[in-house]
Amino acid sequence: MRVSVIGCGHVGLVTGGCLGIIGHEVMCADSDAERIRWLQGGRVPIYESHLEEMIQHSGAAGTLTFTCDSDKAARASEVLFLCVGVPQFEDGQSDFSALDIAARQIAHAVDKPKLIVERSTVPVKTSKQLERLFAAYSRHRNAHFRVAASPQFLREGTAVEDFLHPDRILLGVEDAESERTLRQIYTPILEQSFHCPVHPETCPRRNPPELLVTNVRSAELIKHASNAFLGVKISYANVLADLCERLGANVQEVTHAVGLDPRIRPHFLKAGIGFGGYRLPKDLRAFCRLVGQEGVDAGILQAAENVNRSRIDVFFEKSEALPLGSQRQTHSFAGPSTQSRYRRYPRFTRHRVLQTLSGRRRASALMTRRQFRTPALSIPTSLLAAMRITRPREPTRW
Ligand SMILES: NC(=O)c1ccc[n+]([C@@H]2O[C@H](COP(=O)([O-])OP(=O)(O)OC[C@H]3O[C@@H](n4cnc5c(N)ncnc54)[C@H](O)[C@@H]3O)[C@@H](O)[C@H]2O)c1
Repeated sequence: MRVSVIGCGHVGLVTGGCLGIIGHEVMCADSDAERIRWLQGGRVPIYESHLEEMIQHSGAAGTLTFTCDSDKAARASEVLFLCVGVPQFEDGQSDFSALDIAARQIAHAVDKPKLIVERSTVPVKTSKQLERLFAAYSRHRNAHFRVAASPQFLREGTAVEDFLHPDRILLGVEDAESERTLRQIYTPILEQSFHCPVHPETCPRRNPPELLVTNVRSAELIKHASNAFLGVKISYANVLADLCERLGANVQEVTHAVGLDPRIRPHFLKAGIGFGGYRLPKDLRAFCRLVGQEGVDAGILQAAENVNRSRIDVFFEKSEALPLGSQRQTHSFAGPSTQSRYRRYPRFTRHRVLQTLSGRRRASALMTRRQFRTPALSIPTSLLAAMRITRPREPTRW
């Protein structure tokens, strides 16, 4: 099937690259001309295992193309995946400007029915706003827009593998035709009937992915609710860490034992410096806002956010009280799968951490490198022990 992807950031490239490799004809568009030049030359401006090889392979086969011309991409296919960024203002409100511009471009350009699939993480009811925008901007009598949602649940670093071997595929649709089209797009994944670039020999045996079909609002909500839950879980582990410290207990032993309960599970139950990155704090804040706006008590979410904010002060208080030096252990604060987590801690910049932990000269040297290529950083073991920091074991699932 012909599919277009609007926006070639992390989400757009993984989506376009994987749809290309499972047999669709994909055109990816981005307004950033330099990014497109890179991609046309087979270079990928983000790190994701297997992505560059896949893009080069599909590019050479002619099944994946890149363009700066969003109008052309909008006209080329009957299904458009919207993958532009939806950042956030300080007060937690989403900034829809990129989505608004993309919707306007699509509405102006097309003269045929289209299925628009929200792939970015967006607040509930964004689909309704998109429908209004398409209706308002459309110039052609034959243009008709159906909006669906198929949010991304991929972990950074293993996003390609997660896309091709997911545990679930979520389709938020309002009509049977949209469901049929999306099912068709995902059929090679549901049937695992593609040539896998991750496992060239044979793919490991796993349960087939579960296909979940909901309405669009539920799909939008599921993505935000999942991320918010992960934030609450991490903050809970950090509250336990404080309690263990007071009581002389060991938080790692406690969380390990608690996580063995299959109703709880160990993931995201790790005490440390809290959660950061671009998405989890943003999604939790947006979710808090939504819950409050709907008149529902957001106390549990607010508390998780407050706990998370306080972790950074605790971290620096402890780090400043400790002698640096002697015992060092390498912990990757910046490996491809984890670096973005540390990008946006509240009042916590990479530079500040690097200065505190490793001395000013090393910090300056590291800061000059490309963020996604930054090497591992040495942190004194004593500091990690005092903070009960463990290296995150699994990449974040967003
Ligand atoms: N990165 C992830 O792992 C991840 C996972 C799940 C959800 N999300 C969400 O998905 C969204 C996108 O994430 P991202 O990391 O890919 O964002 P990004 O900001 O890195 O990339 C967006 C891209 O869209 C392009 N763009 C913007 N407007 C455009 C237009 N009108 N036409 C063509 N291109 C346009 C930009 O130039 C940019 O390259 C965000 O809302 C994010 O929260 C991200």
